[in-house]
Amino acid sequence: MAVRSLCTGNLLNQFLSKKVSPATCIKFGSTWSNVEMGPPDAILGITEAFKKDSSPQKINLGVGAYRDDNGKPFVLECVKKAEQIMLQENLDKEYAPINGTAEFCLETAKLAFGDNNPVVKEGRNMTVQGISGTGALRLGAAFFSKFYSKSKDFWIPTPSWGNHTPIFKHSGLDVKSYRYYDPSTCGFDFAGAMEDISKIPEGSVIVLHACAHNPTGVDPRPEQWKEMSSLIKKKNLFPFFDMAYQGFASGDTTKDAFALRQFVEDGHEVALAQSYAKNMGLYGERAGAFTIVCGSKEEADRNMSQMKIIIRGMYSSPPIHGAKIVTRVLTNPDLKNLWLKEVKGMADRIITMREALVAALAKEGSSKNWQHITDQIGMFCFTGLKPDQVERLTKEFSIYLTKDGRISVAGVSSHNVDYLAKAMHAVTK
Ligand code: LMR
Repeated sequence: MAVRSLCTGNLLNQFLSKKVSPATCIKFGSTWSNVEMGPPDAILGITEAFKKDSSPQKINLGVGAYRDDNGKPFVLECVKKAEQIMLQENLDKEYAPINGTAEFCLETAKLAFGDNNPVVKEGRNMTVQGISGTGALRLGAAFFSKFYSKSKDFWIPTPSWGNHTPIFKHSGLDVKSYRYYDPSTCGFDFAGAMEDISKIPEGSVIVLHACAHNPTGVDPRPEQWKEMSSLIKKKNLFPFFDMAYQGFASGDTTKDAFALRQFVEDGHEVALAQSYAKNMGLYGERAGAFTIVCGSKEEADRNMSQMKIIIRGMYSSPPIHGAKIVTRVLTNPDLKNLWLKEVKGMADRIITMREALVAALAKEGSSKNWQHITDQIGMFCFTGLKPDQVERLTKEFSIYLTKDGRISVAGVSSHNVDYLAKAMHAVTK
């Protein structure tokens, strides 16, 4: 009886099955003994496994983080230059405002909606700094959970970024899904998506990847976006955009904002999460933003006052370094031009690697159709590899990727593409 009251959970189970002695049970029966070991993260856990592998040929295609052609993390030149300027400015380390600085938020909104967009010109955007894209989504989820009275249902595409569901659920929202990817074509299931969207109950929130869909690399075409926009309007759904890859899909930040801007032009009230992790390479700096388009500036101000109350209770105010870099890059014309060139450079290298991978697979003698590798866009390619093939790639070739067959094309280089093709051919032939 004493043992039962002192230890719980796993330890108690082990005691009951006679795997541990009563003495051990009493000694180690702490308050947290019933906390079970959680599974590794489906994406970030891959990097942990990769680091432990001692093979010289190992390749990490798990996490979406850009690498140069030598497989090294890439710090953008515009970022280095902004940091040099910042060093000379002898900046202090004071807290940022709860919602981030006004300049950062304005520049970030302009980047998304366009410099001359009426939303920004009229001050109808309620934009706050988020802790990168994830934090921006989390703020949006908290705001919807508290103030959006029409529905608690967030509809995400199948598949979607693995962190969408936990983020939305963490805010007490219900996550549902609509068809998006067609495994038979490795492309967009437009008909399926439209059919499912037409059945979503009025007032629900629909989550849309603005460009470079993660994990599939499959985006709707402009005319398909237009049709989706009018259906979503007709159904009175609330479009919530996740734009983590502006510039990464086509190499052009304006082109990649097409869907968002089309929806705004079509009169939608949109929510938007943005991230500078990929397009400015500011992964660990955690710079991003959340925006709600409001009916008037006065309404935006009221929403802002409530969003500040949410943020203050969560983390008080955002980190400053990344946001200061972004502000310098976007407000200095030379740095901005350099940045746009560098974004294009990253997108172009990814496109080149897609072509190189398809060519190398053909050279290996693969007779499979790999055209989707070049048809898909952005950082990721949804290869179509099955879980057992993924497992073989990792076990036999030390190539790390997520179980769903997604590869981060940013991790492919001219040095490893032949080895990758050889391995992919070996597990698919
Ligand atoms: C990814 O999908 O690999 C990235 O967005 C990184 C992450 O946090 O999951």
